[in-house]
Amino acid sequence: MSTPKPTRRHWLLAGLHLAAWLPLANLARDVLVRGWPINPIQDWTFGTGLPALIFLVLTLAITPLLTLTGWSALTPLRRWLGLYAFFYALLHVSIFVVLDYGLDLALMWDTVLEKRYILAGLGAFVILLPLALTSTRGWQKRLGREWKVLHRGAYVAAGLAVLHFAWLVKADLTEPLLYGAAVAGLLVLRLPAVRRRLAGLRHSRAAGAGRPGPASDRA
Ligand code: HEM
Repeated sequence: MSTPKPTRRHWLLAGLHLAAWLPLANLARDVLVRGWPINPIQDWTFGTGLPALIFLVLTLAITPLLTLTGWSALTPLRRWLGLYAFFYALLHVSIFVVLDYGLDLALMWDTVLEKRYILAGLGAFVILLPLALTSTRGWQKRLGREWKVLHRGAYVAAGLAVLHFAWLVKADLTEPLLYGAAVAGLLVLRLPAVRRRLAGLRHSRAAGAGRPGPASDRA
């Protein structure tokens, strides 16, 4: 019996799953190589917050990439990238709630009201939660058009996560600004007029190469 040959889709997904565990492996390696951190809560908060934001931005990049390339092998990456963004956000928030605040809800609530960057982070997390829960095909079918509207919330979550980052850094705003520019740029690429142009570019490239557009959508 012959085994099916792995497709580009399989390779891409395998690469994504491997890469997605690297931030966690990195934190574990630090403990193993350097010993227990002096400030584990801070190290782990940083080590999970940034991957959450990066995966969120990458999730938003898939649709424009799909429009530009028509490469359908990218489609499953979007869901997995979103789930990894949520996974790291969940770890990040759990470190804050359990390790930093020892589940003291009253104290945590005071901090949420007192520190605007925490409020923005909470807003981002509250938006990501239903997106992760409804990411399955079943929910996509059940919600129909509303699913698309709900999942546009990913842009709001990304905006709030960038604000969270920008408000917590004390001096150098370069990094949060770069993420902010990426989110804004990706939002522009979603505008119908820009999207049409991207699709047009793809079709003219395909025609120039003597290939029909949709055939380039092979997985
Ligand atoms: C209830 C929700 C959240 C809370 C309480 C929270 C809390 C925190 C705290 C305490 C820090 C470290 C601040 C410092 O020590 O100066 C931090 C950093 C950060 N958080 Fe959050 N956060 C939340 C949600 C999120 C979400 C949803 C994302 C991204 C999707 C995110 C991304 C980040 C990033 C990028 C950093 C900075 C990491 C770095 O400088 O390397 N946070 N967060």
